[in-house]
Amino acid sequence: MHGFERWRAAMERALYGPGGFYRREKPSHHFATSAQTPVFAEAVARLAEAVDEMLGHPPVFDVVDVGAGNGELIGHLAAHLDERARLAAVELRPRPADLPGRIEWRPEPPESVTGLVIACELLDNVPCEVAVMDPAGRVRYEEVDESGRTRPGDPVEDEDAKWLAQWWPLRVPGERAEIGRPREAAWKALSDRVLAGTVVAIDYGHTMERRPEAGTMTGFRDGRSVRPVPDGTCDITAHVAVDALECDRLVRQREALAELGLPVERPHIAEAYRDPTAYALGLARSSASARLTDPTGLGAHWWMIARRHRSRG
Ligand SMILES: C[S@@+](CC[C@H](N)C(=O)[O-])C[C@H]1O[C@@H](n2cnc3c(N)ncnc32)[C@H](O)[C@@H]1O
Repeated sequence: MHGFERWRAAMERALYGPGGFYRREKPSHHFATSAQTPVFAEAVARLAEAVDEMLGHPPVFDVVDVGAGNGELIGHLAAHLDERARLAAVELRPRPADLPGRIEWRPEPPESVTGLVIACELLDNVPCEVAVMDPAGRVRYEEVDESGRTRPGDPVEDEDAKWLAQWWPLRVPGERAEIGRPREAAWKALSDRVLAGTVVAIDYGHTMERRPEAGTMTGFRDGRSVRPVPDGTCDITAHVAVDALECDRLVRQREALAELGLPVERPHIAEAYRDPTAYALGLARSSASARLTDPTGLGAHWWMIARRHRSRG
């Protein structure tokens, strides 16, 4: 049993430590994501084609899915991209048995990437600290124990205080904020691996205009949101302060997917008589694509996009 500790350490242990949530559990058993949907992979394949074109069709074109979960996205992409695409999944979880053989499954991103790096719902799972303003107006780290009880701990250190002042100022006792610095470091580490191409992180998040007053630290288990208890029995996630990430473009998923050809139209009813199977498949695709672009759901996710073109020297 662990006593009180800061959220970052508690989250790290509960999610990724020995016996941690992601060491055992398949994400799709607990929550639905865009990346689990085949029609999402169709759109990402179009993005990959655009990046490939921009790079002038290099002899090897990398597509790297970071935080690949159970490999759904990269598995679907394998069906869309030809053999010149070198596919890799970066994951701490074990390789799924049914993954196409051409996909490399690895614990770390490749040293150097020419192509597309995509990270869906990774950054919200990067462990971070929670800050809370105490009744005297001091900003302190929140601590949590393994039963989920919380208490204010030490005052926040200088770098975190600076981050809060710039990105998420706390003004009233009881207000809480998740400190985004580890997410920014993770994003930078990914971008730094890309020699030429595009990096995309897709996540739920917020911007300066609408920071949630009580923070967003939440648990997920069996499809439901639950109290975030860092005992390894649930996912623990906090929305991303997306505007604090350095990128070339920040856009909502529904707009990004519109540029990539979504939503897919419903098939015409006449198709149901001509070819019932094709009609049913078309209907499934169009309703999946409606979920991906729903402005009150997955469509409100943010795409953080950075383009890289560096010389080897
Ligand atoms: C919320 S799940 C998202 C899975 C998938 N991308 C999706 O959108 O359905 C986050 C995944 O990121 C993985 N992950 C977290 N930190 C990681 C790291 N440093 N390296 C590799 N995988 C990581 C977790 O194991 C987990 O499978």
